[in-house]
Amino acid sequence: MSHIYLDTLIIGSGLAGLTLALNLAKCKKVGLVTKQALLDGASSWAQGGIASALSEKDSPEAHIRDTLSAGAGMCNEEITRCVLKKGPQAIQWLIEQGVPFTRDKDNNTGYHLTREGGHSIRRVIHVADTTGQAVQETLGEKVRTHKNITVLEHHIAIDLITSIKLGRSNSEGNKCYGAYALDNQSGQVSTISAQNTVLATGGAGKVYLYTTNPDTATGDGIAMGWRAGCRIANMEFIQFHPTCLYHPHAKSFLITETVRGEGGLLKLPDGNRFMPIHDERAELAPRDIVARAIDFEMKKRGLDCVYLDISHKPAAFLKKHFPYIFTRCQELGIDITQDPIPVVPAAHYTCGGIVTDLNGKTDLDNLYAIGETAHTGLHGANRLASNSLLECLVFGKASAEDILNQAPLPTTKLPHWDESRVTDADEEIIISHNWDELRRFMWSYVGIVRTNKRLQRAQHRIKLLHEEISEYYANFRVTSDLLELRNLVSTADLIVQSAMLRHESRGLHFSLDYPEILQYAKDTIIKR
Ligand code: SIN
Repeated sequence: MSHIYLDTLIIGSGLAGLTLALNLAKCKKVGLVTKQALLDGASSWAQGGIASALSEKDSPEAHIRDTLSAGAGMCNEEITRCVLKKGPQAIQWLIEQGVPFTRDKDNNTGYHLTREGGHSIRRVIHVADTTGQAVQETLGEKVRTHKNITVLEHHIAIDLITSIKLGRSNSEGNKCYGAYALDNQSGQVSTISAQNTVLATGGAGKVYLYTTNPDTATGDGIAMGWRAGCRIANMEFIQFHPTCLYHPHAKSFLITETVRGEGGLLKLPDGNRFMPIHDERAELAPRDIVARAIDFEMKKRGLDCVYLDISHKPAAFLKKHFPYIFTRCQELGIDITQDPIPVVPAAHYTCGGIVTDLNGKTDLDNLYAIGETAHTGLHGANRLASNSLLECLVFGKASAEDILNQAPLPTTKLPHWDESRVTDADEEIIISHNWDELRRFMWSYVGIVRTNKRLQRAQHRIKLLHEEISEYYANFRVTSDLLELRNLVSTADLIVQSAMLRHESRGLHFSLDYPEILQYAKDTIIKR
């Protein structure tokens, strides 16, 4: 068992984690723990781009207006203003790092700006349809070669080490001292002591059967923060992306919203459009509206999917702007220059998370949360498309500045991980069965449209799973599947608890029992 000492421990290697690491590493010894390879996470899968008021026709005020409007009265206006005003500076930083954004000589910015639902103007800067991958590869290379950054790949954090855990909370409140992390390959658990710990593990799309997220999105940071005593906010607001490819061999393949931004039309199997009867903005309405409209049409007509058609655009345009989607669809026998693309909604983004301030600080001393793991107040009840990578950049930098401004703290020797009372698991089938069961009932009972009864059913099943997994965790050696399942169940519980507390329909939370919107918007905050 090893004991690692760091200035800052970052758990998660998405855009928030990499941005923070690079901003800290000038002066600090940073350790970056990531449960697969460095670039295997949801940030690399982001297709659309990064929203920011770059064009001379645009303004931060217009971007703020669109964000507040999509957020359905629940965005924190101070945070929203602060984040969106920093957008152009954050994009400039990425350009300086070498991100090859798609150019457009006819635009005054020199870059091509695309459009997505809820945006009143073209303001999404991108690298064709693989923005996340390009950004992550550029920053990942710098992280790997930085002498002050140690990357621990294939390590999954088990839990945070806090004053409460160490029995010191009476004298010092609740502080974070680091974390235990399991090496997936050797099975060894390391104890990591750090002056500051940052949760940047992304969201929890894998709570649902159908998701656009990679397998890594198991709510690890949110669950660890919750167990450590952080407040959790607005978990009922799970964003369902309207257009995930519907194909038996295309698990989790997103069709970016910029396809609609560039003129793609949603159609029924008979070729008729349906969005204009649901919203005057039609295909470019915010995501909650489009996903609900698709869900409605599919249920009403008993359809397996609807279709996204952009075949009316010139083939050369489609190949230039959507090379990745063009190739992936072609491999599956769909020619997007000729055929409509079969699509369904799927879980995409966790708008709620660990409550943080403007610098990413949580309720625990020396613990931060950034990116999709955090609830900053920017996304409100429905995140505006392409605001999330921007949030990662802004909070990655802000938390770095906050950490750099602190006087150095002593690192503490911490107890080793105790395996004296556990044995190797005897029945792995319990883990895979419970994973499957959880994701299926969350999809059926806690999806796009909810009712009290469905939520109660889900809550009942979560309670049983929770008991079974806690017993398993207490008796058997940890594995990454067990840790992820434990985190998924906790996150599902937070989603259901939050959904039950909201007695209205607002943004991404829609209940048949409470179809109206209340006059005053209020955050759902859950505390242990
Ligand atoms: C997309 O490209 O449609 C996803 C972008 C986002 O979720 O912000």
